[in-house]
Amino acid sequence: MKGLVIGGAGFIGSHTVDALLTEGHSVRILDVLQSRIHPKGKPDYLPNEAEFIQGDVTDKSALESALDGIDFVYHFAAYQDYLPDFSSFIEVNSKSAALLFEIIVEKKLPIQKVIVASSQSVLGEGAYNCPQHNLVFPDLRSESKMELGIWDPLCPICEGDIQWKLTDESHASPQNAYGLSKYSQEMISLVLGKRYKIPTVAFRYSIVQGPRQSFFNMYSGACRIFCLSLYFDKRPPIYEDGLQIRDYVNIKDVVSANLLALNSSKADYQAFNVGGGKGYTVLELSAMAAKVFQKEISGKLTGAYRFGDTRHICSDISKLNALGWVPKFNPEDSLRDYVSWLQDQNDIDDILEYAEKNMKNLNVVRSFKPS
Ligand SMILES: NC(=O)c1ccc[n+]([C@@H]2O[C@H](COP(=O)([O-])OP(=O)(O)OC[C@H]3O[C@@H](n4cnc5c(N)ncnc54)[C@H](O)[C@@H]3O)[C@@H](O)[C@H]2O)c1
Repeated sequence: MKGLVIGGAGFIGSHTVDALLTEGHSVRILDVLQSRIHPKGKPDYLPNEAEFIQGDVTDKSALESALDGIDFVYHFAAYQDYLPDFSSFIEVNSKSAALLFEIIVEKKLPIQKVIVASSQSVLGEGAYNCPQHNLVFPDLRSESKMELGIWDPLCPICEGDIQWKLTDESHASPQNAYGLSKYSQEMISLVLGKRYKIPTVAFRYSIVQGPRQSFFNMYSGACRIFCLSLYFDKRPPIYEDGLQIRDYVNIKDVVSANLLALNSSKADYQAFNVGGGKGYTVLELSAMAAKVFQKEISGKLTGAYRFGDTRHICSDISKLNALGWVPKFNPEDSLRDYVSWLQDQNDIDDILEYAEKNMKNLNVVRSFKPS
């Protein structure tokens, strides 16, 4: 079959392109080569066998021509940033999904599958257990508490202590413009897919790790920052108290989920969490990265927090497990892959400084004073 991979020059897209080619499909990529992600233009890792079109997913005529002769579509293109230009998230992430279905329906295209990249950010703060009220979902953490270094959310009913737990797909409570745009992208795709009988799957990826994550993507988070810090013999910066829980999924496991959705109808018209299945504290991740680098450098508590961050989030992956998908790699494997790729790059000087300065300028990183 012939697949269109929108955003196929990026991290997840390019690995999916490679796997599709290996499976014998032919592939066309539509990617705008966003300058912040690809400051040096078209990446070398893109295979010559894949047809490449440079174009914007929000441009109807570009998307129309890219869809010509296509059997299935992966949509990975996204606007990911910390900037407060909220409409850009909706424009790229939500509107593009609507445009995709608009063209498929208008032109009666014989698309057999659409797979869209949603995100764990749709879940927001996620699920907790209250000893008195059982399952609860706390709201956005208050800025006034975070300024005092008070991190853990309380039960929204009794204000008692609560314990995080795995969050499944039935929950959605996005807490920033990115998460909102991903949730609407997911809804647009699943609802229009179902209405017009175009088999569609939305994947809520947790933090994906592996080679090719752009050094310039502020959203690639802890793995990139920790590894770059250690590479330069600096202490990885840790926000809050480092005890926040996150889950990480290896790119190879993400690619196998992406292929499963293409090859099976069991996933159609549904959203799935795609995560590592196990929560780690940020301090644990930092220690793991140091172990991979074989350096005795511990994480540094910076006395800062990131505006809008959730405290704990760990996706429940049992729904996708039930379709036979099980993650095979752990975060240490992912860090090892990432580090060996990073050590092969020759253009990483100054990137760390660039990233830190950028985050400060955006006022994303804020200081706190413990009470
Ligand atoms: N990487 C993660 O940890 C993660 C986690 C959750 C969700 N996701 C989602 O998965 C998808 C892929 O993420 P990634 O990490 O590979 O990102 P990435 O930035 O590496 O790749 C995205 C690609 O999309 C392209 N692009 C951006 N805007 C475009 C536009 N308007 N038109 C055409 N192309 C455009 C970029 O040039 C880039 O090549 C995104 O939708 C992202 O929101 C990623």
